[in-house]
This record gives sequence, structure tokens and C-alpha cells, in this order.
Amino acid sequence: MRAVLIFVLLGSALAHFHLDVHLRQSNVDVFEKTFWDIATPGSDSYLKFLSREDIAAVIGASDADLASVQNWLKSAGGFDITTSALRDTVTATFSSTPSDSILKMGRNGIPHKDSHPACVQFVVRRDPVESAFSKSVDSRRVDRHPSSSVGSSISAMDSSPDYSISNIKAAYGIPVDLQASNDATRQMVWGPGTFGFSEPYLTKFKHDEAPLINMDKVVFDTENHGEPGGDNFMEGQLDVDMISAFGLNVTTVVSNTNTSASTEETTGFGAALLDFVTELAARETVPHVLSMSLGSLSAASCDYLCTQAATMGHTLEECQDYMATQRQVCMYLSQEQTAAISTAFQVLGARGVTILGSSGDGGSHFSFSPFVPQEGDNGMAVDLNTISCAHQIPVFPTASPYIVSVGGEMWEGDSSHPVTWSSSTYGSGGGVSIQFDMPEHQKKTVATYLARPGMPPADSYDATKRAYPDISALGVSGTSQSCPILGGIFAMLIDMRLNSGLPPLGFVAPRIYQVAEEFPGVAFEDIIGGNSGLACGDEGGFPATEGWDANTGFGRPIWAGMVQHFASDK
Ligand SMILES: *[C@@H]1O[C@H](CO)[C@@H](O)[C@H](O)[C@H]1NC(C)=O
Ligand SMILES: *[C@@H]1O[C@H](CO)[C@@H](O)[C@H](O)[C@H]1NC(C)=O
Repeated sequence: MRAVLIFVLLGSALAHFHLDVHLRQSNVDVFEKTFWDIATPGSDSYLKFLSREDIAAVIGASDADLASVQNWLKSAGGFDITTSALRDTVTATFSSTPSDSILKMGRNGIPHKDSHPACVQFVVRRDPVESAFSKSVDSRRVDRHPSSSVGSSISAMDSSPDYSISNIKAAYGIPVDLQASNDATRQMVWGPGTFGFSEPYLTKFKHDEAPLINMDKVVFDTENHGEPGGDNFMEGQLDVDMISAFGLNVTTVVSNTNTSASTEETTGFGAALLDFVTELAARETVPHVLSMSLGSLSAASCDYLCTQAATMGHTLEECQDYMATQRQVCMYLSQEQTAAISTAFQVLGARGVTILGSSGDGGSHFSFSPFVPQEGDNGMAVDLNTISCAHQIPVFPTASPYIVSVGGEMWEGDSSHPVTWSSSTYGSGGGVSIQFDMPEHQKKTVATYLARPGMPPADSYDATKRAYPDISALGVSGTSQSCPILGGIFAMLIDMRLNSGLPPLGFVAPRIYQVAEEFPGVAFEDIIGGNSGLACGDEGGFPATEGWDANTGFGRPIWAGMVQHFASDK
């Protein structure tokens, strides 16, 4: 892992770079309570979204702390020092390596922890990357891990139903010509690395499947437009196709905030996600919907796997080094990092953003599929597969309780017979977080589910933690397809709300649970059949049963019911 970082930095050691200093936020508990009040129907502050200034006043650093960080950076030669509107990040530019005596640079080019002022939580270094894909990671160390994003190979079974956009819309009862009409409605997809889309591909998709896509409303967020051929490019294309076909005539913002290869391969991803959500949360305008298809095993999952491997004759370090060779499997640095990302999700929710994340494609045990044994791996892959099958291994960001997790369905025969999406190796992600507590709105529903017969062994998960997914949509190309489909659908509902003078929906999960519990089968159609065990066998996985389950949540959209319960507040 470290080798990768140093490699990236060597190439740009002399150029300008930035340090982003994240200050420890104040009053995070108070803020979290406010976040839940805003998201919970019936509370006095329900849907009373906050401004950046309101939020800064709660979580922002004190003037004294900000001054200490600004002075620290200045005395080390930093210039163009700016403070984010949320008062939780200070950024400085450096033209050369800062004077050592003050910043005590660590080997990775980031100031050593003991030189930080006490109020600092993380320091992130940003180096200019000239589209570094394929240059900066030593590809011999990176085993290609099968990615789920290439849908055609998965769905191309002979007898498979016709999963065209118009058929999917028909299955959900969405009028095929329904278009957004409010100029303000915004939906966003994000990814780093090669993430992007190509206009010719989108034009072809529009021609073949969704003639009403408004190409003029699909715009890039940054100068990074993606690189055809990369995994994340395929993801980006699928995201854009789906969200623009379901959120017809909604402005679609395609965001790629870091093109470094490590953001697509290894732990650069977590850093890029933290950087993106923190920066987005502090922007003047935020989108109404953010759909995120990318992710990997959570930091807590990777910690768990390696701690267990260390009891099976491997050292912790061997396991971590091995993980660093597994492409797109462990992409977060620490649980502290995933907690900080989750706080940024809360800020976005409190500002009115509905965030959705794909539930993953490896059922409840893997990020994609089992580890592949190789000569010389010292039995690591076999042991990690044993550990993975004996426990539920969640993925992130979807396991975060502060976003809506979206699973996948497919059809048996025709669209009126939905089941959990799975192929021989892949399947709708589901399970239980290791790091994050179960939020209040899930407790009743999930307890009812876990009391049903056929559950995996009780010691394979912690029943007090956040369970996922929440809802589902078509996912034959993976949950990277279902998530932007629901993203577009929520954007349409929000468009209707804005047209009637209502606020957007923000973090919508508590309302989803309330609607689904009170009016079963009205806004979401239950999906029964399937299991998240996949390669580990059904006994180790969660079954898709009646009602909510850890495969498909409450099920797939029923447009008329969603309009009834989400487009107005009556
Ligand atoms: C992009 O991410 C890499 C890996 O974390 C980091 O080294 C680099 O500085 C980042 N670049 C920018 C512009 O944020
Ligand atoms: C598309 O959205 C714009 C607002 O941005 C609106 O003026 C236009 O009427 C919409 N088109 C359709 C077909 O509804």
C-alpha cells in the first residue's frame, strides 16, 4: 500500500501541491441529532434543511483553532490559505517541500501526526496528477479482480427477459414519456480514476433505448471527463445512462474529482471519496440527488478479515500486504476515515441531498467474488474465503446508516416475477455493518426479519448494527445499475415537489421505512426469492423473504405509490 503512495508522489515532487487540513469537528453528537430530526417524518424540524452557515455554527472549528492551523501552514511556507464554508477544512498551497522543522514531513509527504496542532484530525495531500492512470500503480502487484460493472457479460443469458428501459419503466408503472420540468432539479453521479462518460455512447443509448434523454442537460462537474477503457469509465457510462434515462430532463452532473490510478485500484479511493464529500458538502449549491455506484469492503471488514487471518498463521502485515494486491477490495484507510465520510453524508443530508449507494455485487460475503488462490500466497486466499463465508462482510459506503442502500432485482421469465439479482458468482449485496449502529427507523423492521427462520448463524453478524439494503431496482448489470435507476426516480419525485413549492427530500430512509411499514405494497413491491450467500452457500447468507430483507430491502419501486407518498407531504 505504501509503495503505491510513494510511487505517485515521486513523479510530482517538485510541482505545486496542496495540503487539506481537516479539523476535528465540534459537537458531532449534537449535529447527528439535528440530522435525524430533519430526516424523520413527524419531527418539528422535518425537512427544515440547513444552510452551510447553520451547519458551520455547530460543527465548525473555533476561531482560535482555525487561526492555529492557518498560522501553522503559513509558517511552513503555505500560501493561498482558504477555510471551507463549513469551517472544518483549511487548505494551503505549497510550491516546494515545506520547511522540515515546522511540518516534520512523514515519508509519504504528509506532515507527521505529532507536528499537527491538536485540533487536526487528518491532513490530506493533493498533488497534481496528469491523468496518471496506468502509470502510477505497479500493475504486477495488482491482480485483476473481476468487476461487476460490465453488465452485458452477466446479463447475456439466452433466455433472459428483455431488460430494456421501456420494459423496466413499464414494470414500475412509470409513464415512458414522463419528464422533469423544473430547471433547478439536479442529480449527480460521482467516481474517481477513469470515471466519466462518452457523448457518442450516450447518443447511441438514447437512440436505442431512451429517445427523450436531454443531452444538453448532461454536464461535467470538473475538467476530468474520464478515460474510455477503464473500469470506472464503464461505471460512469452506466450511471449516466441510467440516471439520465430515469431522471428524464433532470440536469445530470457527472463528477470525477481525482484521476489518480490509486483512486480506482486501492486506498486512494477512500481518500478521494472523503475529499469529494467534504468538498461537496461545503459548496454553495448541492444537488438534490447523489448516486454512488462505487465502493469496496468497508474498513471494518478489512480489519476484521486480517485480524482473523492473524489467528490462522498469517501476520497482520502479510494480510494487509496481500489485500493491497487485491484490486478494488480494501479501498479505505481506516474506520476513522469511513466515520469522517459518514459525517460528510450527514452534512449533505441536512442540506437536502438524497444520497443513494449501490449495495454491492458480492452478496453478503465479498466485495465482488471470492479471493483467487495463487501459488505463493501461503494459503491466504483460501483462509480469507473461509473467514469471509463464516461472517457477513459488509461493503461501504452502502453500509453507512446515513445513505440509502440500493440492492438489485432481476426477473424470472417476465417482469411480473421479480427475484433477487444473482448470477453464478455475483449477486445483490446485503448484510450488516460492523462499524455503524442500527438507526432507529430500521429497528422494528429488521428485528422482525431476523426472527424469521432460515437466517444465517447469529454469530456471523451483529444484530445491533445497520442492516442493508433499503430498497431495490433492476440490477442485472449489477447494483451499479439499480442505484442510478432509483437516483433518477427520486430526482423525478423531487422535481414534482419543487414544482409544488415543497422542499426536496434529503435523507429519505426514515420516510421510506415509515411508508413501507404503514402502507406495505403501496410504494414498493416486495421481492421474494434469492439468497445473499452466493459462493458461500445459502446457509451462510440472508434469504429474500416476505417484507424487508437483507437482499432487496423493501423491494422495487411502484411509481404511483411513490408519487402518493413522496411527491407530496399530505
Ligand atoms: C488524488 O488522489 C491521490 C491518491 O490519494 C493523491 O495522492 C493525490 O494527491 C490526489 N490528487 C488530487 C488533485 O486531489
Ligand atoms: C425540460 O426542463 C426545462 C427546464 O429546465 C423545461 O423548461 C422544459 O419544458 C422541460 N421539457 C419538457 C419536455 O418537459
